Amino acid sequence: MLAVFAATQDAENPLSGLKIDDQPDPEPRDGWTTITVKAASLNHHDLWSLRGVGLPEDRLPMILGCDAAGLDEEGNEVVAHSVINDPSWHGDETLDPRRSLLSERYPGTFAEKVAIPTHNLIPKPKELTFEEAACLPTAWLTAYRMLFGRGKVPPGATILVQGASGGVATALIVLGTAAGIRVWVTGRSEEKRAKALELGADQAFEPGARLPERVDAVMETTGQATWKHSIRALKPGGTIVISGATTGDAPPAELTRIFFLQLSVIGSTMGTREELERLLRLCVDKDVRPVIHSTLPLSQARDGFETMLNGDTAGKIVFTLGDS
Ligand SMILES: NC(=O)c1ccc[n+]([C@@H]2O[C@H](COP(=O)([O-])OP(=O)(O)OC[C@H]3O[C@@H](n4cnc5c(N)ncnc54)[C@H](OP(=O)(O)O)[C@@H]3O)[C@@H](O)[C@H]2O)c1
Repeated sequence: MLAVFAATQDAENPLSGLKIDDQPDPEPRDGWTTITVKAASLNHHDLWSLRGVGLPEDRLPMILGCDAAGLDEEGNEVVAHSVINDPSWHGDETLDPRRSLLSERYPGTFAEKVAIPTHNLIPKPKELTFEEAACLPTAWLTAYRMLFGRGKVPPGATILVQGASGGVATALIVLGTAAGIRVWVTGRSEEKRAKALELGADQAFEPGARLPERVDAVMETTGQATWKHSIRALKPGGTIVISGATTGDAPPAELTRIFFLQLSVIGSTMGTREELERLLRLCVDKDVRPVIHSTLPLSQARDGFETMLNGDTAGKIVFTLGDS
C-alpha cells in the first residue's frame, strides 16, 4: 500500500529521511481493526519523528501520522483515537506509562490502511467531513484538554496563546472563543496575527510584546522562545499549561517568579477517548470546525511537511486518500 514513512532520521535535515512509497499492509492483531484511511492530518509530532525525537531508530522504517478518519471493516465512518495503551491499563489513557501514539510503536495513519485497537474507534459524526474529523485526534484534542481538562479555564477568563497559526494554536483560539474565554495570541507575522483575529482572537501581539494587562492563564507549546514571556504574562496565582516545546526545552525556569507569584505550571498531553468524544460533540453542537490550511493527496505529502517545517502553516494540513 502507498504510505508516507520515516526511512532514516536527521535532527538538522528531517525531510531527508521522508519517503513516499509502498509499505506492507497492517498485520491483523487480536482486538484490533483495520481502517481504510480517507483523511489524515499532519502534526509537528511527525517532524519530531523524522528528527529522531520520540521514535527510536531501531523501529524504522515507520509509517508516520497520528490522526485519521476513515472506514472500519464494516464500512462505518470512524475517527481514530491515537493513544494506544498497554492492554492491562485502566483509567485515564494519557497516564499509562506504556502508552504510545500511532507512528511511535505501531505504524501510523499516513497510509491507505492503518490498524488500531477496536476500542479506539469513535463514530464520525456525519456533520463533519473526513478531512475535518482527521484534524481532531491530536492537535485539537490536546487543545481541548489544555483548556478544559488540565487548565480548567472558566468562561470570561483571559488567556494568552503563544503562537497563532499552528495546529494546536488555532484549535486553542477557536475552542477558547467558543467557550466564552477572551483569547489573546502572539504571532510571528502580521499575516498570522490577522488570521488569528479572524478566527476569533480578541487581540494579537508580536512575540514578547508587553500586554495591556496580565492574563489568567497561558497556553504554551513553543517552549524556549516564549517561556519567559509566558511566565511574565501571568497574574499572581495564574496558570501556565504546557503541552509542547517546539523551540527547545531549556529556558531559564523563572523559579523566583513562579514561587513568589504562586503560579501553577501544568503539563498536558493528548486526551482521553472520552474527551475526544466530547470534542466531536462540541464541534457538531456549536458548529465549530477545525481550521484547515490545505488539503493534499497523500502522494504529495512532502509539500505539506515542507510547509510545516518552514513555519508557513495557517491551521491544519490534511492528506487525503481516494475520493473522501
Ligand atoms: N503533548 C502533546 O500531546 C502534544 C500534542 C500536540 C502537539 N504537541 C506539541 O506542540 C507543538 C505544536 O504542535 P503543532 O502540531 O501545533 O505544530 P505547528 O502546527 O507546526 O505549529 C507551530 C507553532 O509554534 C509557534 N512558534 C512560535 N515560535 C516558533 C519558532 N521560533 N519556531 C517554530 N514555531 C514557533 C508557531 O507560531 P506562529 O503562528 O507565530 O508561527 C505555531 O503556532 C509541537 O512541539 C508538538 O510536538 C504536543
